[in-house]
Amino acid sequence: MNMKKKIAVILGDGIGPEVTQQSIKVLNTIAKLYQHEFSYEHGLMGAIAIDETGNPLPDETIKICLSSDAILFGAIGDPKYDNDPNAKVRPEQGLLKLRKELQLFANIRPVKTYDALQHLTPLKPKLLENVDFVIYRELTGGIYFGAKSISDDGNVATDNCSYSVNEIERIAHLAFQHAQKRRKKLTLVDKANVLETSRLWRKVVQKMSAQYADVTVDYLFVDNAAMQIILNPAQFDVMLTENLFGDILSDEASVLAGSLGMLPSASVGNTVALFEPIHGSYPQAKGKDIANPMGSILSAAMLLDHFGLTAEAAIVREAADWCLSNKFVSKDIDPINSYSTSVLGDLISEYIERHISGEGHVHHERLHKSTII
Ligand code: IPM
Ligand code: MG
Repeated sequence: MNMKKKIAVILGDGIGPEVTQQSIKVLNTIAKLYQHEFSYEHGLMGAIAIDETGNPLPDETIKICLSSDAILFGAIGDPKYDNDPNAKVRPEQGLLKLRKELQLFANIRPVKTYDALQHLTPLKPKLLENVDFVIYRELTGGIYFGAKSISDDGNVATDNCSYSVNEIERIAHLAFQHAQKRRKKLTLVDKANVLETSRLWRKVVQKMSAQYADVTVDYLFVDNAAMQIILNPAQFDVMLTENLFGDILSDEASVLAGSLGMLPSASVGNTVALFEPIHGSYPQAKGKDIANPMGSILSAAMLLDHFGLTAEAAIVREAADWCLSNKFVSKDIDPINSYSTSVLGDLISEYIERHISGEGHVHHERLHKSTII
């Protein structure tokens, strides 16, 4: 079925623009080959939005997002704010506000390993066998959004952490339903031996598990979970957790893939969904055309899945796998024989094009080699 979709694009900061451009390239290739019509509308967010408007998330950007079918986002953050704890306006406020305004309460971060990248992980290859799990991170509550304060004398700071039953239930339903379609195991990660909010998570999830009798539920304290991700990552199927724990554990889990640059994510809720790589703005690489576009391109594949375009999503993933297994990789993966961000975007598009048109041969001038696909 031909689809007509409007995609809001937020390029953001650092390497955000250059990796997102590759996703747009790939989406345009898909649109051309499968006769879809994708249009894009750009909005500002992050340090670039502060520079241009004084506001990390201008209202105009929220409007653009709300009138779109999906949002493709690059990255956020700039060192000039990171090193200034007194800054009142920060780029990250833009992303947090967008998540809250759009009620993107579930952040879905799939974690898998790649044979071609195993040598990059500090873990023994044996541990990486059969690793395939997905983190459901709550994204609009918890300590990120609780009241914050600092005493008048500047000596005491407070961040409040709160969760309601409703906030827990709505993401837990999504996590349980996803587990039902996978290996039917759900692990709730919390700190219920210490935190009241964690005890509420446990109570709610325990009660809900009766509705999802085919799903096995287990519970892990977050300190233990951090260890288990390294000791025995293949045990996980769907991991459900609150906002801060999910932030930390998903960066940890990216080590299993071999590079933070590989991991995509989707944030969903009641309105339009947002797709972004989990990596940050990597300011040192900005504008150099060396960043890894795979996290963004695989996020675009999640966007296609979200539109129900599963064949299109599958071919994008296949193209990404083909790049990895033929060593068409960026500098983070192979510092000596690396390909630029934009060439990798071209290669993925070309693979898809040749694959669909039935020509099985890619010869790229810039590659100095030809490859059978
Ligand atoms: C992420 C990022 C953000 C977060 C930052 C940029 C605010 O680390 O998406 O994981 O902490 O949620
Ligand atoms: Mg993070």
